[in-house]
Amino acid sequence: MSTEKRSNFGSKIGAILAVAGSAVGLGNIWRFPYETGNNGGAAFILIYLFCVFILGIPILIAEFTIGRSSRTNTAGAYRVLAPGTQWKWLGRMGVLAGFLILSYYSVVAGWTLQYAVNAATNSFANNTPEGFKQMFATFSSNPWQPVIWLIIFLLATHFVIVRGVENGIEKASKVMMPALFIIILLLVGCSVSLPGAIGGIEFLLKPDFSKVTGSVLLSAMGQAFFSLSIGMGCMCTYASYFSKETNLTRTAFNVAIIDVIVAVLAGFIIFPAAFSVGIQPDAGPSLIFITLPNVFQQAFSGIPVLGYLFSVMFYVLLAVAALTSTISLHEVVTAYLHEEFKLTRKRAATLVTGSCIVLGTFCSLSLGVTKGFAVFGLGLFDLFDYVTAKIMLPLGGLFIAIFAGWYLDKKRVKDEITNQGTLQSTLFNVIIFILKYIAPICIAFIFINELGILK
Ligand code: TRP
Repeated sequence: MSTEKRSNFGSKIGAILAVAGSAVGLGNIWRFPYETGNNGGAAFILIYLFCVFILGIPILIAEFTIGRSSRTNTAGAYRVLAPGTQWKWLGRMGVLAGFLILSYYSVVAGWTLQYAVNAATNSFANNTPEGFKQMFATFSSNPWQPVIWLIIFLLATHFVIVRGVENGIEKASKVMMPALFIIILLLVGCSVSLPGAIGGIEFLLKPDFSKVTGSVLLSAMGQAFFSLSIGMGCMCTYASYFSKETNLTRTAFNVAIIDVIVAVLAGFIIFPAAFSVGIQPDAGPSLIFITLPNVFQQAFSGIPVLGYLFSVMFYVLLAVAALTSTISLHEVVTAYLHEEFKLTRKRAATLVTGSCIVLGTFCSLSLGVTKGFAVFGLGLFDLFDYVTAKIMLPLGGLFIAIFAGWYLDKKRVKDEITNQGTLQSTLFNVIIFILKYIAPICIAFIFINELGILK
């Protein structure tokens, strides 16, 4: 085994940035707004925040603990920590989830590249809200154009994965993330000052709990897990590259806070603008692609060159944010094939990239030519999204909480969380209590509630 040769993240800030790079991505800027729009706005956001802080952070810490104490890929981790048990299936389910997410996520990542090109070729200028809807519908249902971008995106991911952890992932995260954050802040300012933006602000801030159903709860929990990259061993795999000194609790809090801020700010870009130009908040996966071009065009109508510059920069940085997320998904599957099946890293990565191109192509086509073909009433793209975010990740989170809370030796968990007793452990008992009782009960309740058994 190649365990002794495994690389480390170079510095502490590098570890935090790489983990934040995994967490912050299309989940925040594309998926969060559209799920918020589909699920009625402010009340959804409050439940999502509850899920992030009460369930998400402890599960994130549990994944860090499992990853760093085993120092191997997510399936191998359960072999090391729970030899001879069925826990290995938890790791394997995570690898499968990562593979499915990577396939459809890359489709959306490909869209951001096309939109970067649209921005650069000035095709947002002089267009109308109706025109932007048409632009997206024509593009996303085209049989080959999105597929080419998907392939380009997966090849870019592949390239970083093959170059290794330290050189690739870390360097990419360090420069681009702060830049994206600044652009987002600017766009919030633009969006809230559009005429009629107040409707969108109210949508984000005035909760209407009468609209909260079982499926809103499940969507909020799924969104929290998806956005934090938890429930499938992604953070577990990253933590296996952490150094001994990394403070797991603090890293988890920092990352969750950054992740939530970016998502909520994305909401403050999208909804004020959507209400301003009359786009329905429940437009689904197309929401940000039909709303944002309006922001660039209208907010900068006095100084179009600024709108041009910001739009190009925004889509390029969004693509990079997506890249740091696809890298983390790809890494889970690649590390698994490399370490468990003794494939070379390069061959493992090639296998993953190739299969994702095939599956991703089917996902992309399901929005166009094969639209009529549905499984459980969902096209392949929507099916992958539903099965991973709303079933596999919460289920994974449930068992990760049980594994860390009940199965693992408490002293081992404590040593890991306190770095062998060198850090204070004021929160340790709270974390364990949540992992043991609160998280399993909440997740199970939301599942059972959605299945309708309680009615
Ligand atoms: N969290 C990322 C985002 O918000 C996507 C992602 C990366 C992910 N790794 C993951 C989602 C693992 C679920 C599980 O864009």
